[in-house]
Amino acid sequence: MKLEVLKNKCTSCVKCTLSTTRNNVVFGRGNPDSNLFVIGEGPGQQEDEQGLAFVGRSGKMLDDIFLSVGIDTNKDCYISNIVKCRPPDNRKPLINEVSECMPWLTQQINLVKPNIIVLAGSTAVESYLGIKKPISQLRGSWIIKEDIKYMPIFHPSYLLRNPSKEKGKPKWLTLEDIKKVKKEL
Ligand code: URA
Repeated sequence: MKLEVLKNKCTSCVKCTLSTTRNNVVFGRGNPDSNLFVIGEGPGQQEDEQGLAFVGRSGKMLDDIFLSVGIDTNKDCYISNIVKCRPPDNRKPLINEVSECMPWLTQQINLVKPNIIVLAGSTAVESYLGIKKPISQLRGSWIIKEDIKYMPIFHPSYLLRNPSKEKGKPKWLTLEDIKKVKKEL
């Protein structure tokens, strides 16, 4: 099955109640032939309105950090989220929402076949890998599972709240993490 076919199916998903409050299903954006896959938490308001992943302020932050090491998020990676519909008031997705939505993500990943997956924020790490630890402890170190290398990073919304570029601060650390990703690519 092609990614476009999967997207069409996903667009009519009503498996959980997030489908009743969404404007658009946010399936993913970027290059489906890429080796790099980025997983966020879930769409925010901008993403819900436009039907595209990471296009609001967090997305701009993500784009800028990736671009600073030469990764264009539309050409050099594919970006999606743990849940494809916006949780009301940007709350964290609930356990049942994550589990109902997960088959879409696993099928996406099976089709894109990335070697590297960047997990943005603790919700992505916990939901996808089942690892429940603070992101400050996980970020920056590769996790290898079934031939895929996973790099946990701070969620870009956290970087928006902590904008200092000073050495050792979250934004500086994230740039170091993305440099590791670039090197590995
Ligand atoms: N935050 C996310 O985790 N994903 C998006 O697509 C936008 C904001």
